[in-house]
Amino acid sequence: MESAFQKNILCIGAGYVGGPTMAMIAYKCPQYRVNVVDINPIRIQEWNSSELPIFEPGLDEIVAEVRGKNLFFTTDIDKGIHDADIIFVSVNTPTKTFGVGAGMAADLQYWEKTARQILRCSESSKIIVEKSTLPVKTALAMERILKSDNSHIHFEVLSNPEFLAEGTAIQDLENPDRVLIGCSQTESGFKAMEQIVEIYANWIPKERILTSNIWSSELSKLVANAFLAQRISSINAISELCEKTEADVKEVARAIGMDTRIGNKFLNASVGFGGSCFQKDILNLVYLCRSYGLNIVADYWESVVSINNHQKERFVLNMLKAMFNTLAGKKICLFGFAFKADTGDTRETPARYVAQKLLEENAELVISDPQALQNAQKDMHGVTGKIHYIKDPYAAAQGCHAIAIITEWDLYRHLDYKKIFSSMNKPAFIFDGRNIVDHNILFDIGFNVYPIGKPALTHF
Ligand code: NAD
Ligand code: UGA
Repeated sequence: MESAFQKNILCIGAGYVGGPTMAMIAYKCPQYRVNVVDINPIRIQEWNSSELPIFEPGLDEIVAEVRGKNLFFTTDIDKGIHDADIIFVSVNTPTKTFGVGAGMAADLQYWEKTARQILRCSESSKIIVEKSTLPVKTALAMERILKSDNSHIHFEVLSNPEFLAEGTAIQDLENPDRVLIGCSQTESGFKAMEQIVEIYANWIPKERILTSNIWSSELSKLVANAFLAQRISSINAISELCEKTEADVKEVARAIGMDTRIGNKFLNASVGFGGSCFQKDILNLVYLCRSYGLNIVADYWESVVSINNHQKERFVLNMLKAMFNTLAGKKICLFGFAFKADTGDTRETPARYVAQKLLEENAELVISDPQALQNAQKDMHGVTGKIHYIKDPYAAAQGCHAIAIITEWDLYRHLDYKKIFSSMNKPAFIFDGRNIVDHNILFDIGFNVYPIGKPALTHF
């Protein structure tokens, strides 16, 4: 019975954020009933099955523990809204692909539809929590829609952005650096905020639960992602200089990272950052700056994306140049297609760009990944060229001219590269887009080795 629970929490959007965050709330707070709804019936079916729709270490165990007890996945959005005291909205907010702001601004259509549906199905006052990442001032638009029928029902809109990273979502949710809750600076705003603080206080120390005004909260989410992505673009920019000067980007990262003011995290040079959010959120920030006429500020942040595009582009150009300026008919194996390790997610993965460019050079591709092959197949659907999908890395590399390491899966650090080398076409090349293998050992085995941000090791 619903009444047996202290609170009825609803989350609209059962994606990478909605699913894990609500599973954690249900797990830590048996006194609350947590419903998760989505317009996509297949997603809901998968959340109710033994094959969850997303791969995330530790997630299966938590869902198994609480599903059917105080965590429920359904497609009945109207009823979910009607019964809820608190509604988290974590629908997708992709980059707009049409009209004004196309390619830059956030597409808020899913968000707005949700607001209208909440208004339509509510018969009692509710707290609405923005969990999705949104442009600053979205809460205002939400509030205007919710107040548009002048009813007696009060909706209090709060911002509670999510900072989890994929692959470590469960540990990020269980032990976050901070939780941020923004509210209107009014009596009802503060009262609603207390209710959200109370949820997190079930397992998170109070000093890590930050409160702020609602606009600071919305903006902090965009800024956090922009700063994180900026660090990667900064070290990637330096990686190119290292390749020219015989400096080693790992040594540089270590040296600067020991300065406590800089810190040592997020300094791994790579083939480029991917994921559904960094690029989208920076472009959103850039658009916001431009809409306020802050063009120099906008240019500054946009350059983070430009460097990332440049890094992906030069990775492929390096491959082409190293392999005697022709890839036509050569078989190239991609180790990894996910945008990072420990996830099956391939949204905005650099692998997609690399694969496309290699195919344009008429290379034959073998794509290997322990978790992302299904998504890779969907992403590459309709792309012309010869592509094979092989999970086992040994079988995948067999007969290839080159391997490109795109994802930093631990698995690729510990392979028997002697065995792999002997099965490959010679001269054999390895392009380490993540600097995760021992380059000297690979060189001694016989590979021509091309790391990121270090001079290449070649036999000719
Ligand atoms: P997602 O695409 O995995 O999930 C969104 C879900 O919302 C989908 O299942 C979709 O079917 C559903 N949906 C869309 N419109 C709906 C509607 N009207 N009613 C019900 N369901 C609806 O997206 P995600 O990765 O979970 O991201 C959601 C938000 O969280 C985005 O704003 C994103 O920027 C932000 N975010 C994502 C991450 C991450 O790691 N993926 C981390 C922090 C913040
Ligand atoms: C990122 C942020 O880390 C989260 O805090 C945020 O909540 C989330 O975006 C979001 O808003 O969606 P996520 O994209 O899941 O999380 O993963 P990250 O670990 O940040 O990695 C992003 C990309 O940067 C990956 O492609 C990763 O391989 C790359 N990366 C990361 C590097 O190239 N070098 C590094 O040093 C770190």
